[in-house]
Amino acid sequence: MDLFEYQARDLFERHGVPVLGGIVARTPAEARSAAETLLYTPDATGVVVVKAQVKTGGRGKAGGVKIARSADEAAARAEEILGMDIKGHTVGQVMIAAGARIAQEFYFSLLLDRAERRYLAMASVEGGMEIEQLAVERPEALAKVPVDPRTGIDAATAAEIVAAAGFAPEVADQVAEVLQRLWDVYREEDATLVEVNPLVLTEEGRVVALDGKVSLDANADFRHPDHAELADPSADDPLESRAKEKDLNYVKLDGEVGVIGNGAGLVMSTLDVVAYAGEHHGGVKPANFLDIGGGASAEVMAAGLDIILSDPQVKSVFVNVFGGITACDAVANGIVAALGILGDQATKPLVVRLDGNNVVAGRRILRDANHPLVTLAETMDGGAAEAARLAHSA
Ligand SMILES: Nc1ncnc2c1ncn2[C@@H]1O[C@H](COP(=O)(O)OP(=O)(O)OP(=O)(O)O)[C@@H](O)[C@H]1O
Ligand SMILES: [Mg+2]
Repeated sequence: MDLFEYQARDLFERHGVPVLGGIVARTPAEARSAAETLLYTPDATGVVVVKAQVKTGGRGKAGGVKIARSADEAAARAEEILGMDIKGHTVGQVMIAAGARIAQEFYFSLLLDRAERRYLAMASVEGGMEIEQLAVERPEALAKVPVDPRTGIDAATAAEIVAAAGFAPEVADQVAEVLQRLWDVYREEDATLVEVNPLVLTEEGRVVALDGKVSLDANADFRHPDHAELADPSADDPLESRAKEKDLNYVKLDGEVGVIGNGAGLVMSTLDVVAYAGEHHGGVKPANFLDIGGGASAEVMAAGLDIILSDPQVKSVFVNVFGGITACDAVANGIVAALGILGDQATKPLVVRLDGNNVVAGRRILRDANHPLVTLAETMDGGAAEAARLAHSA
């Protein structure tokens, strides 16, 4: 799960990473009062920055980061930024941040290096430029230091990163300290990415994280009940949320052929086969991943069909089941019962391919039920082709 900047800022603060004041606002009026608070703190600089809170980079370039010198100005800038579209993300909230007097901008990130089975720290004293651009044009200016998961960024590793990036002696100790606190964020929050761009040196001589990007590892959610409140339900796909409530393994994709199968591997290959078949039928594509698991009961089948049929993009459905412990006759009964449960809500053609345990009995049950929407397929390729054809001609 990716966090908003203001959430990353809060985590930084909690772990002792130096940050500036930041208050989130959802309306211009909230922005005004946040700015009043920040403009009248003892160490205020007379400036606040109004920052779009969207989970994408390049906010500054898109006009989503603006300076304000008064509370009224902050409200006006917030009015402009709220509702703005930044790379397909609508701005629903802004953060009013205390303004920094920036002397120098740096870059730091820590991420999981899966291939090397360790972490990788990257740092540069050449901030300001986009990091992707820096990595391409001046790779020598971006220090890369592996981090051993057993030690993390301890004092020695921090010193190594600071030296590799070439931080000036005047800031070396402060930066090393900040890197160790950022490691605390990474480890204690179970993050997979912590990025600070820019990390700045202020004219007062402080090293501060001005922008933060944090991704948390959802596999570790059980260790962090407090992370649940960081989730942003408005960003979730509504079909995926409904599927989650029903404990279904569903991922929405951008296509027209709904797919149901049992076992992740079978479903993955079904997606491929449907995509290939689609090339001969107007370029239709699979609409989703849905693995109904081993016990393909009528209830689970009905719940899965219900989700898929309520996707307005779906034009046909391909049910591809390999009978194992739950044999084909049980699955076939499940499909028939599911269509019964759904009644008039089932309106799109279903192509069913069954194979495996008790396949003959399974096919007989479907043939006897003679449901007008159901077509039986002998093979996986044949079923995919038929489902693609139906989706294209719908
Ligand atoms: N609190 C602040 N005080 C002064 N200047 C700031 C502050 N926050 C940001 N800036 C300036 O604005 C620039 C862009 O800000 P920031 O890094 O937060 O957004 P961004 O890089 O455009 O967005 P993203 O990191 O999502 O791509 C910074 O490099 C910095 O120069
Ligand atoms: Mg940034």
